[in-house]
Amino acid sequence: MLVIHDPSALPQDGCTFVPTMGALHSGHLELISAANINELPVVVSVFVNPTQFAPDEDFDAYPRTLDADVELARQAGTDVVFAPTVEDVYAEAMDDIPLPMVATEPKLEDATRPTHFQGVCNVVARLFQFTKPTHAFFGEKDYQQLKVIEAMVSKEERFEGIAICAVPTARGEDGVALSSRNAYLSDEERAQAQAVVKALPLGCENEMRAALLDAGLDVDYAVIRDAETLLAPVEGRSRRALIAARAGTTRLIDNGALP
Ligand code: PAJ
Repeated sequence: MLVIHDPSALPQDGCTFVPTMGALHSGHLELISAANINELPVVVSVFVNPTQFAPDEDFDAYPRTLDADVELARQAGTDVVFAPTVEDVYAEAMDDIPLPMVATEPKLEDATRPTHFQGVCNVVARLFQFTKPTHAFFGEKDYQQLKVIEAMVSKEERFEGIAICAVPTARGEDGVALSSRNAYLSDEERAQAQAVVKALPLGCENEMRAALLDAGLDVDYAVIRDAETLLAPVEGRSRRALIAARAGTTRLIDNGALP
């Protein structure tokens, strides 16, 4: 397995690609396993992207564990870990990627983190340009992000030939979605995180919100939406429950399909 820092040293003949911000856990490793679909190399990027963090967010405190990440990535079936510097990623000028509606209309992550998806789309576009993937893997854990990337790729000609592949959310034994930020949770907050998982299948927004407040969580949103547009649900179409809530200083997000 190779560790490459310089974007110009990447293989240029196609790859299957897993973008990450590192601090790899079993959720990321499932994406890497899923990316082993053909003979093309599996490229995993480890890059904490400053442009998707707001000034009051945890960019500086975000865990950076490259040596451990390299070893975990290797074991999970990675051919290349791509760990560029901020300077290299943003060396060339590029216009902001036009944001699809699902990045600006649902008032979910876009409401609490108004600059976040612009940062995500811009960095993913740059990473795609460097890595030239045929397939790119994203977790359902960040469901709005997955839908934003799917829409971005289908809208823009420059991304033609890139298939976006969704991987189900990996969970701990207590059902809590694995997240790099879980390292920050106290025992009490871990118990609160379980309330998020239990609220997802309730099927009613009021009941979801009440269950979260009962557990002492600060609720950003607890909603049931159309699974594709993330707008109000439409009769006969798939629905998705989505929650963002704070346990102490840690923001938990999770989602689940509804029958
Ligand atoms: P990061 O939070 O590191 O997540 C990288 C990928 O792993 C994302 O697609 C995310 O949805 C997926 N993932 C995280 N936890 C997961 C879990 N428990 N189960 C399944 N998949 C999980 O998301 C980002 O980084 C960044 O925004 C990025 C796309 C890399 C752009 O900077």
